Formats: sequence, structure tokens, C-alpha cells
Amino acid sequence: MEYIKLKNSDLTVSRFCMGGCPMGGYGWGNVQEAELIAAVHTALDSGVTFFDTAETYGLGQSELTLGKALGANRKDVVISDKFGVHAKKGQPTFYDNSRDYIFEACEGSLQRLGTDYIDLYTVHYRDGKTPLAEVADTLEELKKQGKIRYAALSNIGEDDEKELAELKGKFVSFQDEYSLACRKNEAEMKRLATEFSLSPLTWGSLGQGILTGKYNLQNTNFGPDDRRSRDIYVNFHGEKLKKNLKIVEVMRSIAAEHQTSVASVAVRFILDYLEGSVVLAGIKKPAQLLSNIEAFNFRLSEEELKVLDDISKD
Ligand SMILES: NC(=O)c1ccc[n+]([C@@H]2O[C@H](COP(=O)([O-])OP(=O)(O)OC[C@H]3O[C@@H](n4cnc5c(N)ncnc54)[C@H](OP(=O)(O)O)[C@@H]3O)[C@@H](O)[C@H]2O)c1
Repeated sequence: MEYIKLKNSDLTVSRFCMGGCPMGGYGWGNVQEAELIAAVHTALDSGVTFFDTAETYGLGQSELTLGKALGANRKDVVISDKFGVHAKKGQPTFYDNSRDYIFEACEGSLQRLGTDYIDLYTVHYRDGKTPLAEVADTLEELKKQGKIRYAALSNIGEDDEKELAELKGKFVSFQDEYSLACRKNEAEMKRLATEFSLSPLTWGSLGQGILTGKYNLQNTNFGPDDRRSRDIYVNFHGEKLKKNLKIVEVMRSIAAEHQTSVASVAVRFILDYLEGSVVLAGIKKPAQLLSNIEAFNFRLSEEELKVLDDISKD
């Protein structure tokens, strides 16, 4: 395992973060609680100290499962949690960064996780109306109350960047989609990392699974209740799917050279290519975790990085 200190903080985390989206338990096919809990324990045994979840994943189910799985180990890990999606059963869903909502969301998350504090509390999505400075002030209040340790950002836009210039040091990291199947955010991520001193955390690092080598044109027709059937999951549709499968073929030969898994090549590319990054990957079972962290057993050569860079460019 490799470790890194997140910028503007004293949080040292593993460069692999176990993503808690599948712990929400819906829309990703069959998800078993026992396997999720076993995967958390495998992660802990393997040196993973960073776990990501969100209030909205399974309407709190992900936080409940993570809290249960961590148990007494909670004190030894860094929990990243996210707020900003106001989603309640039977009610319309909307983005909300208001002070009242953030306080309410934080209480709920603390309870479900079974903890007194959240290490990294992240604005999941901006609501388009609350100024970022106001959000930062609310998060400062939560810090003073000891309920969160640091604040972070996710999926931010150009307007936020203007505001961020005045808020240097208030946020320690940001999450955005980045992988060999999604390079479109690369320039922005590098800019945020250098100009605004934020540590980049990548989501969708495995292209929602397409970069693990288990898919082909025949097994990518998902049922209507599977989120991958939706058009916004572009990695599984049309020309993008065909391009991804070509990338996977190159990854497969690199993986064979290093006697490692295809998934670990996806992880290693990010670690080597995006300086100071942490890879978030959704995990459903121990075998997936172990396959992904094979990335810490080898390095990609300059030549391999170039081949992967060339084939995956947008
Ligand atoms: N900030 C944000 O807005 C945001 C957005 C999305 C995600 N996230 C975070 O980032 C994390 C990662 O993103 P993601 O979960 O969307 O996508 P991902 O990590 O690219 O893909 C995860 C999926 O790939 C499959 N998988 C994982 N390891 C595998 C392996 N070794 N072999 C075969 N299949 C494997 C699993 O699904 P199957 O078993 O069903 O194939 C898993 O659910 C999330 O869990 C969440 O914590 C944040």
C-alpha cells in the first residue's frame, strides 16, 4: 500500500479508498451485506485506511453498512462522507447546500455511521444557489463543534473555481470522475490540484467496472433496474463502449506482462499519471478489493504509460 497526506491537512490516507456506492445496495445488481462487510475487513487487513460513503448512497444504507463493518476499527481509519443531495423516500430529490440542511445531514450521517466525527465532509453536488463561502462557513462551524475534521469538494464547476480563489485552505480535496475511460476532467483536476492546493480523489476509477476486463459486446445489455442501462452511464453504450473495449485489450497485454489483474492496471495508471491522487473504487466483495490493490505490487514503465495515454485520450 502507498500512503499520502491530503493537502492542507494532517490526514494521512492510503492511496486506495474503498468506495461505498455499492454499499447503498441498489442499482448495481446483486449486493450482499456479508460480502461487503468481509470486503471492508479485507481492506483493513491489506492496509487500506480510507473509506468513502455518502448520505445519498442507498438513502443512508451505505453509511449504516460501513459503520457496522468498521466497528472498533473506526478510530484507525479516515472516513470520507458526502452531503448535498436532499433525497428522502417518497419526496422529490434536489441539491441542497443550505446551513440548516447541512446540519441535519451531518447529524444523520454521524448516527448511521455510529461515530462522533467525520474526517472528511464533502459537498457532493453544488445546489446552484448557496455561495461556496457560505457553505465553507457552515462547515467551519461543524469543525468547531468537533463533528467534522476537514471539508472537501466534489463535482465542482467553473463558477466555484472563481469563489475558491478566496477560500484557499478551507477545503483539502475534491472528487471528480477520472479513469482510462474518462480523461475529460484531467486538465481541470490538475488545475485544481496545483492552483487551489486540493488533493485529487478519482471516482469511477474502473469506469464503473468496464476497465476490469470482464465485459464484451455481448454481456453489456443490462436490465432496466440496473443503473448501467441508463444513457448517462456512457461507458457501456455505443461507440464509447467499443473504444473502452479496445483500451481493455491493451490493458490486458500490460497486465499479462506484470502478471497482474486488468483492474490493477486501471488503478496503477491513475496512481502514476495523476500526481498526488487517491483512487476511489467501488467494491462489492473481497476478491474485487484484492484484485484492485494488486496495483501496489508493480509500476508502469514510461512506455506503458505512453501507450495507455495515447489509446485513452478523448
Ligand atoms: N463524488 C461523486 O460524485 C462520486 C460519484 C460516483 C462515485 N463516487 C465514489 O467513488 C467510488 C468509485 O466509483 P464507482 O463505484 O461509481 O465506480 P468504479 O469504482 O469505477 O466501479 C465500481 C464497480 O466495478 C466493479 N468492480 C470493482 N472492482 C472489480 C474487480 N476487481 N473486478 C471486477 N469488477 C469490479 C463493481 O461492480 P460489479 O461487481 O457490479 O461489476 C463495482 O461496483 C464510489 O463507490 C463512490 O464511493 C463518488
